[in-house]
Amino acid sequence: MIDHLHEGPLHTPLCDLLGCNVPILVAGMGGVSRWELAAAVANTGAYATLGMVREDPDLIAREVTALRSATDRPFAVNLIPAATEAGLLDRQIGRCLDLGVQDFSFFWDVMPEVVRRVKSAGCKVLHQVGSLEAARAAEAAGADVLIAQGVEAGGHVHGRLGTFVLLEQILRAAQVPVVASGGIASGAGLAAALTMGAQGIQCGTAFLATAESFAHDYHKQRVVAARAGDTVLTDIFVLNWPAHAAVRVIANSVTEELGPNLLGHDPERLPREVIAHEDDQPRLRFSTDSPLRNTTGDLEAMALFAGQSAGAIDDVIPAADRIRQIMEDAASHIDRLTDHLTPQGGQS
Ligand SMILES: Cc1cc2nc3c(=O)[nH]c(=O)nc-3n(C[C@H](O)[C@H](O)[C@H](O)COP(=O)(O)O)c2cc1C
Repeated sequence: MIDHLHEGPLHTPLCDLLGCNVPILVAGMGGVSRWELAAAVANTGAYATLGMVREDPDLIAREVTALRSATDRPFAVNLIPAATEAGLLDRQIGRCLDLGVQDFSFFWDVMPEVVRRVKSAGCKVLHQVGSLEAARAAEAAGADVLIAQGVEAGGHVHGRLGTFVLLEQILRAAQVPVVASGGIASGAGLAAALTMGAQGIQCGTAFLATAESFAHDYHKQRVVAARAGDTVLTDIFVLNWPAHAAVRVIANSVTEELGPNLLGHDPERLPREVIAHEDDQPRLRFSTDSPLRNTTGDLEAMALFAGQSAGAIDDVIPAADRIRQIMEDAASHIDRLTDHLTPQGGQS
């Protein structure tokens, strides 16, 4: 697979920078992007990220070790500095550096001192941002790659612009490679992003619905069944996170009960009620935890993160097949565009 895709027409300079063969980055989805998914992605020639937000450093060490025993391809560890208690963040980064992690992927508020810490240890930084201002701050702090996240994205959503509107703004301002993220699950989206000047795409939802992801099968099936318009942006799933952090989820009984009042919830006023368990750890209604393989309880009422990209996903397949589909689809879109642009409309 790697050889087949290597140096193909969609190989961008970002691939050389990150050491991958195809310009698809798989998001570091908390809980969901564990070593099995990361290994499948990396071994297919795309770029993998371990989703380690707020995880214990010992779990991070186990995941990094398992991933390294399954692949020798590069990968990033995703952390969310602004949503992590300072002491835990310090220990997470310290453990990653001890393990020799080379690449970090950060999201949410830019914390320049965190970027500088890992840069001064010789690491690369990818920073996902939701606004032009944040892109400027991330680049000024030393980020090597900017990931422009649009409002179509699944999971936590930092900005309110559409992916391609934000992408264009950031492309005009940035000196470093830019990646498009949010609502993209097909080759059409990859072709469009590359055409605009992005050097790759980052996908989450498309890889949540794969055999190797650590999401609960219930969550995968809800993504498969969802249409693009079945997701909502809400801040009701906020326990564990800073107030007013919005997420995109598949509408469920919790969001339906809110009617039009999806945003503006005060976490202090939300009741604390256990509705599920991850192994033996309780999970609260309104928390940001999504159902994982090891979750039991009221899965329907949990945060079923998904982007508008869910509308383009209609099966759960191996990650390698998803990558192959996106790449082949993108190549045929680019061929078709080339045909359309010939003076004879493609006829010779
Ligand atoms: C289930 C899920 C969990 C996510 N968790 C994280 C996370 O922990 N860290 C992060 O930087 N982004 C996270 N994201 C957001 C992704 O980085 C990315 O912006 C998003 O998946 C792109 O939109 P798409 O889902 O339509 O592909 C998550 C997304 C999903 C779907």
